[in-house]
Amino acid sequence: AVGGTVAEPKTISVTEPLLLNAARGKVVDRPPVWLMRQAGRYMKSYQAICEKYPSFRERSENVDLVVEISLQPWQVFRPDGVILFSDILTPLSGMNIPFDIVKGKGPVIFDPLSTAADVEKVREFIPEESVPYVGEALTILRKEVNNEAAVLGFVGAPFTLASYVVEGGSSKHFTKIKRLAFSQPKILHALLQKFATSMAKYIRYQADKGAQAVQIFDSWATELSPVDFEEFSLPYLRLIVDSVKQSHPELPLILYASGSGGLLERLPLTGVDVISLDWTVDMAEGRRRLGPDVAVQGNVDPGVLFGSKEFITNRINDTVRKAGKGKHILNLGHGIIVGTPEENVAHFFEVAKGLRY
Ligand code: CP3
Repeated sequence: AVGGTVAEPKTISVTEPLLLNAARGKVVDRPPVWLMRQAGRYMKSYQAICEKYPSFRERSENVDLVVEISLQPWQVFRPDGVILFSDILTPLSGMNIPFDIVKGKGPVIFDPLSTAADVEKVREFIPEESVPYVGEALTILRKEVNNEAAVLGFVGAPFTLASYVVEGGSSKHFTKIKRLAFSQPKILHALLQKFATSMAKYIRYQADKGAQAVQIFDSWATELSPVDFEEFSLPYLRLIVDSVKQSHPELPLILYASGSGGLLERLPLTGVDVISLDWTVDMAEGRRRLGPDVAVQGNVDPGVLFGSKEFITNRINDTVRKAGKGKHILNLGHGIIVGTPEENVAHFFEVAKGLRY
């Protein structure tokens, strides 16, 4: 092409990233490994970026910074999954819900929603218009990682997003969203519906731009009793999964809900491919209760990384043995805790990557 740029050929990889094979139940020789919250927080290299760019919004909305931060753990630990540096709240400003993430305080929603009129004002999310930096970053990450690991996208689940925008931020007792759920459920359902269609769209966008698997975080669904989970979370998770599977049947979807021990039998009803367990359930029992169709992820207590190297090794081996061969992605039961020694994280990855079934 004289004087022009040559379109890059679409590389067809014969060897898919290990994580995708495990998520799809294919034969693998070891469990793939990555860690929730591996990008940011505990890494000194991240803290250095925070000093230069103190605003979380800037760090998570500037393509170069997003790529750099996402790649920090990749460069040091070579995990099998590279998660995008972003936040579950990132889509909110594009939905007409202004927010910030404040150091020491966490998420802040400036005008918490409480009425039908508030919900009416929530705009349907158009990712390509509102968060083009997410797409650009994913495309670059995909090139950089080059199928040596899977690039992971993520979204917040409708109930978890609703809890932030109704409570106005993090919450202890979730009284505002429960007041809404238990006195004016129609208003909450209208909001959940908007989040569900918007997040389905967002997952498709992430996949089209380079994400090879997408994790859905329903961090607060377990604040609901099982009957309420069945009304306010499950149908919307299923709506997202059904909608995404229609256009992207091959895209593995992972569901994480912390504290979900009381809900395990219900989680596969969402239709996701992988369910991420916290550490309050035994891996062998969790596996049994989830049934044979889904793959499992997680389960190692993040606090284990504060233990001795020998202890860490033992816990990895214990989880892997209990998870059984295949359909298992090794991970923590929640995000890495700030203050975790980076050498212990390195040890975790080293042991994990040396395993063979
Ligand atoms: O490595 C990764 O995990 C990718 C990046 C990522 C962030 N947030 C960056 C972030 C991911 C996957 C999230 C998801 C997220 N965000 C969840 C679901 C996971 C979970 O923990 O249950 C939730 C509930 C949020 C909302 C949120 N964002 C909270 C409650 C906070 C503040 C409290 C905290 O943990 O620090 C954030 C801020 C946030 N998001 C930080 C990071 C690295 C910390 C602030 C900073 O680094 O400046």
